[in-house]
Amino acid sequence: MLRSHTCGELRPEHVGAEVSLCGWVDRVRDHKGVIFIDLRDRWGRTQVVAGPDSDAATLTAARAARSEWVLRVTGRVGARPEGTTNPKLATGAVEVVADRIAVLNEAETPVFQPGAAELPGEEIRLAHRWLDLRRPAMQENMLLRSRIVKIMRDHFDELGFVDVETPMLGKSTPEGARDYLVPSRLEHGSFFALPQSPQLYKQLLMMAGFDRYVQVAKCFRDEDLRADRQPEFTQLDVEMSFVEADDVMVVIEGLVQRTAREILGLDLPLPLPRLTYDECMERFGHDAPDLRFGLEIVDLTALAGECGFRVFRGAVEQGGRVRGIRVPGGAGRFSRKDLDGLTAAAVEAGAKGLVWLKCEADGSWSGPVAKNLSDIAAGIRDRLGCQPGDLALIVADSFAVTCKALHTLRRRLGIELDLIDSRALNVSWVVDFPMFARDEETGHWAAMHHPFTAPKPEDVDLLESDPAGCRAIAYDLVINGSEAGGGTIRIHDPAVQERVFHALGISAETARERFGFLLDALRSGAPPHGGIALGIDRWVMRFGGLDNIRDVIAFPKTQRASDLMTGAPATVEPKQLADLGIRVIAPPKPPTP
Ligand code: AMO
Ligand code: AMP
Repeated sequence: MLRSHTCGELRPEHVGAEVSLCGWVDRVRDHKGVIFIDLRDRWGRTQVVAGPDSDAATLTAARAARSEWVLRVTGRVGARPEGTTNPKLATGAVEVVADRIAVLNEAETPVFQPGAAELPGEEIRLAHRWLDLRRPAMQENMLLRSRIVKIMRDHFDELGFVDVETPMLGKSTPEGARDYLVPSRLEHGSFFALPQSPQLYKQLLMMAGFDRYVQVAKCFRDEDLRADRQPEFTQLDVEMSFVEADDVMVVIEGLVQRTAREILGLDLPLPLPRLTYDECMERFGHDAPDLRFGLEIVDLTALAGECGFRVFRGAVEQGGRVRGIRVPGGAGRFSRKDLDGLTAAAVEAGAKGLVWLKCEADGSWSGPVAKNLSDIAAGIRDRLGCQPGDLALIVADSFAVTCKALHTLRRRLGIELDLIDSRALNVSWVVDFPMFARDEETGHWAAMHHPFTAPKPEDVDLLESDPAGCRAIAYDLVINGSEAGGGTIRIHDPAVQERVFHALGISAETARERFGFLLDALRSGAPPHGGIALGIDRWVMRFGGLDNIRDVIAFPKTQRASDLMTGAPATVEPKQLADLGIRVIAPPKPPTP
């Protein structure tokens, strides 16, 4: 090794020792001829000193050193003089008095200083990711990720799970997104699909008798990106045989508890709370609610259906709902402009408008439509439990629109009113999802999870008669208002699988063509089985208190699914396309300068 210690290692007990450190120059200061260099590596920072007592070559090297140069420093550990110690730094009580400084490599002036407090915009960070990853905060994120994955691997290893790798080049595994396709050179016109998840392979592993499978699996989904979505992300993928939902959930609860203890020092009581999908939609308007704060949704439909306000009555007459949120103390906090902002947010989420009412000192309501609601004023106050000074926000529309609008408002108010304890960790299950949801574009039924999910035994006969009412044996893990995992018990009866394909409008022919291998395997002795996949990126975000998924991935993609560092995706040589039998219809975009 070129070094005897890391830059985060030296303490007062090392004073007097001869050491060698290697690292990057974080900062250089010249103090009346004495040169101070902060040397940085992934373990920390150590102050190096070269002064008049150092030999000429050492002093020259110290003077020449610039930000991000790579140095090897040999010298003696000294105690920092009183008044110059740095209690914020683990090595802050000592310094290395340099005998020799070797420049291992120089560096051009970096585009930004990894050690600086001011950060450049994210595009610059992404384009120069190797510099960005030198930042201590990013290194901490990557170490946290590594620790969390280790805890996951240990947990499943101790429980007898087998790690099996599944292919990247395969056939489409539908999880509701578009596939990333890879053309075949040997069969022009044929394509592999990168896995949206290892779903079918892991089910086949159960049919092959592996019983307990686990994999840290890369997944690819070509879908619209958000703050917690990447086109390429990682799942901790799990499957078990001869189990029911509870068995899978218990295994995951053990992992959640262990991770909370080892990463955050928190003792999470088990079992985790469970909410049904219906309850989530009623109380929070969303299937992954943030339970760290209140602002629950209250139903006002019965009252509203009788009232004189045509907006409310009209919505109820059309089979819709009228629902609202009480914002304690909100009347005084929001200006007219703020309330216009909330209205705009509700409209953006699909609502036709937003009724806001301020509860006055005498218990009466004020607001643009308060007069129209005089006949149900007391009823609204009682149902919402409003006190003087509170604000009521009400939306009238279809159930789905009221959910979307009120969830949007709730989440926004939770942040704006500072109702969220950022240190709190709320982990819960959402269960009893519907099997199907209407695809907004096509109007057809689509699988809410995926087409291999088992219906609840008592709902099987609804597959044909009432698909909307048919519930799945599905469970989502929600951490602080974000879906951090999802799983189901699978169909192991080929007849039920065919009925589900039928309900999804997949003809027997198409089913055979796309999933013939699965149907054959189901007919060859398939054990009852089920599993789950955890979003590793999201776990790291939640356990690290981070809200940008790109901060937990070493080399992430932008919101436009591109890699600003390598320039991927990129055009390829005409010869490569010819080999693949591919002709590009649209001319490629000119390269960005
Ligand atoms: P699902 O589609 O719910 O289930 O995915 C499981 C978990 O993966 C994470 N996740 C994502 N993370 C980052 N970027 C994305 N684009 C992204 N998409 C999903 C989420 C999610 O909860 N095969 C099933 C699992 C099963 O049934 O066993 C599946 O993939 O945290
Ligand atoms: P309008 O009659 O459309 O001018 O609306 C009267 C008031 O009711 C305005 O404050 C609107 O923001 C509000 N409003 C309109 N439609 C709805 C709705 N579906 N739900 C809640 N408020 C609404």
